[in-house]
Amino acid sequence: MLHDTRAVLNSSVVSNVSGVTIARQMLDRRQFLFSSGLALLAPRLSSAASARIEILPDETIGTISPAIYGHFTEHLGGCIYDGLWVGEGSKVPNVGGVRKALIDHLKQIKAPVIRWPGGCFADSYNWRDGVGPRAQRPRHTNFWANNEYLQKAPNGPQKYDPNQFGTNEFARFCKLAGAEPYLAGNVRSLTARDFYEWIEYCNSPRDTTSLARLRSEGGDPEPFNVRYWGVGNESWGCGGNFTPDEYAVEFRRFITWVPEFGMRPSFIASGPNGADYGWTRGFLQKVAEKGSRALQPIWGLAAHYYCGTTGAGVANEFTDAEWYELLRKADRMETLITNHWQAMGEVDHDHRIKLVVDEWGAWHHTDPTIDPSYLWAYFPTMRDALVSGITLDTFNRHAEKVAMANAAQLINNIHTSFLAREDKFTVTPVFHVFSMYAAHQGNTALRAEFSSSRPSSSGGMWGLAGSCSLKGKQAVLTVVNPDIHNPQETEIDIRGARINDCKAIVLAATDIHARNTFDQPNAVQPTTDSNIRTASPLIYRFAPASVTRLDLELA
Ligand code: AHR
Repeated sequence: MLHDTRAVLNSSVVSNVSGVTIARQMLDRRQFLFSSGLALLAPRLSSAASARIEILPDETIGTISPAIYGHFTEHLGGCIYDGLWVGEGSKVPNVGGVRKALIDHLKQIKAPVIRWPGGCFADSYNWRDGVGPRAQRPRHTNFWANNEYLQKAPNGPQKYDPNQFGTNEFARFCKLAGAEPYLAGNVRSLTARDFYEWIEYCNSPRDTTSLARLRSEGGDPEPFNVRYWGVGNESWGCGGNFTPDEYAVEFRRFITWVPEFGMRPSFIASGPNGADYGWTRGFLQKVAEKGSRALQPIWGLAAHYYCGTTGAGVANEFTDAEWYELLRKADRMETLITNHWQAMGEVDHDHRIKLVVDEWGAWHHTDPTIDPSYLWAYFPTMRDALVSGITLDTFNRHAEKVAMANAAQLINNIHTSFLAREDKFTVTPVFHVFSMYAAHQGNTALRAEFSSSRPSSSGGMWGLAGSCSLKGKQAVLTVVNPDIHNPQETEIDIRGARINDCKAIVLAATDIHARNTFDQPNAVQPTTDSNIRTASPLIYRFAPASVTRLDLELA
């Protein structure tokens, strides 16, 4: 299967490079100091503490782009039909056909940007099929219809797409949710002209062009002002099976002329799969063959990394060893970012082009209790919550490199934040992590050093890791403790500052397999503790198998 192959591919390639870059935060500082003979310089810990976090306010990394908290939606399984889109006549509460509960929750987590219509689906999608009167829109075979699992499903919209959800519906959905739209263009099966006409359809001012009029007939006279445009998706695979050189030629052609309408599009090139550094180098070198100016229109390079699954691939059936295995795989994001960034810098010397991780997450099999129409739908567990925390912390620590990221996918699919089936709806533990981490958006990322002992029998997983950001006098520290059994009593110091006040929001469960379901939608939810004794340094006990956010008010 697609994701299994990928996990194998990634694991073999990544293990070759895993020794290359060791993030500073990952160093067990005490271990380093002791092993390097500098024992006298090792931080003294209060007697109870087993770990230490030192935040360095003078060492800023960059502004955390809110867009790294983005989401991804695709016409895949139950993501669009019955997930996001229920239709205006539905008994499910909706706003113009969009599931209302979804809109409300997206506002809650300040969803900054949403990608659509794919994924692999994007390179089979003709945007013209999804505009104009809904009753007259054509029905087409969905890209995923031949998937062996979906073949077992009835002939619903997941197999034969009725195009009821198109560009206007997506743009309105984004507006309702308070998010920016990010559209993925079709490079494999449409032309450069179709691409720029889609831009014209979305962005040309009211009444200026025939396409603006068509948009208006669909109910939206004013332009959508779409800024983010993906030029294909996974062009090394489902998006055309190109070599980096071939894709670079297509890419240049697609973006050579597009109308701007007062807003220069931010083009996102289809980037590598996992650790394919050859793609990153090859693509950029080929584009730059026409001179370094040719690189200028590229705003971002899209990298995809799914950390896969473990064992039999069932989301909520895993051993302790498989818990750690998946978390270690999620942690590879750090190396991927650092190494792609290095490869990008070989061609783009000033690092003008940023990384866009527009698909990421754990990827388990479809839950056998769920209708097969809902391909790759399952109820994420605490393990997936920790995957989310590990990944979002990694993005924060690389704020100067990662400009956008999109969890795959938003609802009813893969690393999902929501599950919905007709009028049933639940948020997942992944949602709660997004909700907790939203406090980082737009803050300045600070360097923070973590020292802790590794959990036993964890295959070398670190003991504590996280990220820290600052806005004014308010620091946000998010921390993952992967240890299944042990809390980490931790000394937290902010160099040169005193902590006035501290509040903790904790996502933890006594059972690492815990998850929310339609019957038990609140089985996993965060708790808040505002009664923390403040001191300098602060002593805080991170619960086993948890994701924690500490809001630290500095004096
Ligand atoms: O997210 C599911 C699929 O994974 C996407 O369509 C594709 O881009 C990737 O292979």
